[in-house]
Amino acid sequence: MVPLVVKKEKIGPIVGRHPWVFSKALVYVPEGLKPGEPVRLIDERGKFLATGYFNSYSQISVRIWGYEEDERIDADFFKRRIRAALSLRRRYVENTGTDSYRLVNGEGDSLPGLVVDKYADYLVVQFHTKGMDRWREKVIDALQEVVRPKGIYERSEIYTSQDEKPEEKSGVLVGKIPDLIKIKENGLYFLVDVRRGQKTGFFLDQRDKRMAFKKYTKDAHVLNCFSYTGGFTVYAFAGGAKSVVNVDTSADALELSKENVKLNGFRTDNLETIKMDVKKLFKDHSRQYDAIVLDPPAFIKDRKKKERGLTGYKYINRKAMELLVNGGILVTCSCSYHLGLEEFRHLLVEVASGTKSLFRILETYTHGIDHPVPLPFMEGEYLKCFFLQCFKR
Ligand SMILES: C[S@@+](CC[C@H](N)C(=O)[O-])C[C@H]1O[C@@H](n2cnc3c(N)ncnc32)[C@H](O)[C@@H]1O
Repeated sequence: MVPLVVKKEKIGPIVGRHPWVFSKALVYVPEGLKPGEPVRLIDERGKFLATGYFNSYSQISVRIWGYEEDERIDADFFKRRIRAALSLRRRYVENTGTDSYRLVNGEGDSLPGLVVDKYADYLVVQFHTKGMDRWREKVIDALQEVVRPKGIYERSEIYTSQDEKPEEKSGVLVGKIPDLIKIKENGLYFLVDVRRGQKTGFFLDQRDKRMAFKKYTKDAHVLNCFSYTGGFTVYAFAGGAKSVVNVDTSADALELSKENVKLNGFRTDNLETIKMDVKKLFKDHSRQYDAIVLDPPAFIKDRKKKERGLTGYKYINRKAMELLVNGGILVTCSCSYHLGLEEFRHLLVEVASGTKSLFRILETYTHGIDHPVPLPFMEGEYLKCFFLQCFKR
């Protein structure tokens, strides 16, 4: 392994187990290193700090594999990491009537730059860094041996730097992939299109929020904004909802939402699907609901455009707050990395103060068990969600 010396004043985050090392933290990086090259991080006195892989000469130069000095990066390394990842999910996720989850969550599973989503018997892999992409064969072999999937599909977005557009790679890597995969989540069924669906096909990160929502939906009239393929909708019907309105700009997603409702044995005559921009719908919508879900895409994609994104969050949350009945529930989410949990809460405080209602927090969520994040790794956190209850004044 290539030794890389970390500057004395920069070893703090590495000792604190932060998994990224920036180029400025390194004394010197020899020329000719290829992305993926295993490296040994040492301090200025030569003391071992961590192992990692070299990724680029700028920004995040090294991503850390681990803290065992003699750990070799070979086929067994990937099998060990994937076995450990699988065992966490088997223990805490599969026992909930669930066969689909994030199997590998990058840094949270000590495999930085790699994401693997499991959909029933199939896997979708995403290589996010050039360095991890270099190990693709070993990763695929390890996944086959440890998980034994019927097929593996790739939907990579490989970043060279944070500012550049990623290189996209997609296609079947192993076996045959059905057009739609039937998955089970908390005992409910969904069809997932891993080829054309958004992200890797399904928003696995909302599983626990969907489950939490179910208990608020007995006899409820529900508005599911940014509904995608009806995740929250199916849980609402399972909880006894009287009606659900799905709103999304994607016609394909809305179509699949109807299929998902049928798949679970629920009627679709009390399901309305509206293909529309939620912001447009809210311009002149006055129907009242017992429960509303707001799960928009990241409105703040870039720190420089934060103000615009904040305006969007404020607008949809104010409108949703106004459309709730007394005692109604608002599930409001943000997956913008640039909007922290506290800041999101303050935004909701500001918005709520402009309405005629009082709101209290019933539940707060971030990511679920299958999206683990190392303790110091704030960069790995993006999702936050509040369940608010409304009281009309
Ligand atoms: C984060 S996903 C929602 C996931 C969903 N809650 C679930 O549990 O599967 C966001 C959805 O918003 C839709 N979308 C994006 N912009 C929109 C807009 N302005 N109005 C309505 N839908 C929009 C996307 O098509 C996508 O389906």
